[in-house]
Amino acid sequence: MSTEASPGMITVEQVDAAATYPLRAQELRHGRPPEIDGDDAPYALHLAARLDGGEIVGVVRFHPRDCPWRQAEAPWQLRGMATDPRVRGLGAGRALVAEGLTRVVQRGADLVWCDARAAAVGFYERIGFTVVTGDYDLRPVGPHRGMVVELPIR
Ligand SMILES: CC(C)(COP(=O)(O)OP(=O)(O)OC[C@H]1O[C@@H](n2cnc3c(N)ncnc32)[C@H](O)[C@@H]1OP(=O)(O)O)[C@@H](O)C(=O)NCCC(=O)NCCS
Repeated sequence: MSTEASPGMITVEQVDAAATYPLRAQELRHGRPPEIDGDDAPYALHLAARLDGGEIVGVVRFHPRDCPWRQAEAPWQLRGMATDPRVRGLGAGRALVAEGLTRVVQRGADLVWCDARAAAVGFYERIGFTVVTGDYDLRPVGPHRGMVVELPIR
């Protein structure tokens, strides 16, 4: 999918895990290795948002994993969500998650969940997720909340 947004056109596509590492390292990992367990599993879905078909300005990963807080037939976890500060608020994050939800529904998912950083809870709420836990600490990052979105079953 694509959305028109100054300073350029954002498009979302599937990429290899390694393509997501520079932005992950810069915005999420802060000195820790960019790899996350399961990155190279065949069922892991990595998406990137490109600016004008070139530079990667947003990344996210989806993979099947039981949800700690909700029963579901086919739950998937969202991880590694980040956009470049230069494009924040322009729809790249929304476009990445929307494309991911469409693709995981096609693979049978009925729920997507995430450990949402406290500062990102408002973003996830804005794009359809619901808070289902209180605050919990995930070191070394800090406070998080559990969030879920239920998906239509195909
Ligand atoms: C959270 C993050 C991914 C949002 O990306 P983004 O590209 O700014 O998202 P979008 O522009 O698509 O925003 C979609 C909507 O959410 C809103 N929004 C974005 N970030 C928000 C936030 N932190 N709190 C509240 N609302 C937010 C936007 O204003 C927009 O609202 P609209 O529907 O009125 O247009 C980005 O700020 C980021 O990478 N943060 C640092 C890393 C991080 O915390 N990742 C999440 C880890 S759980």
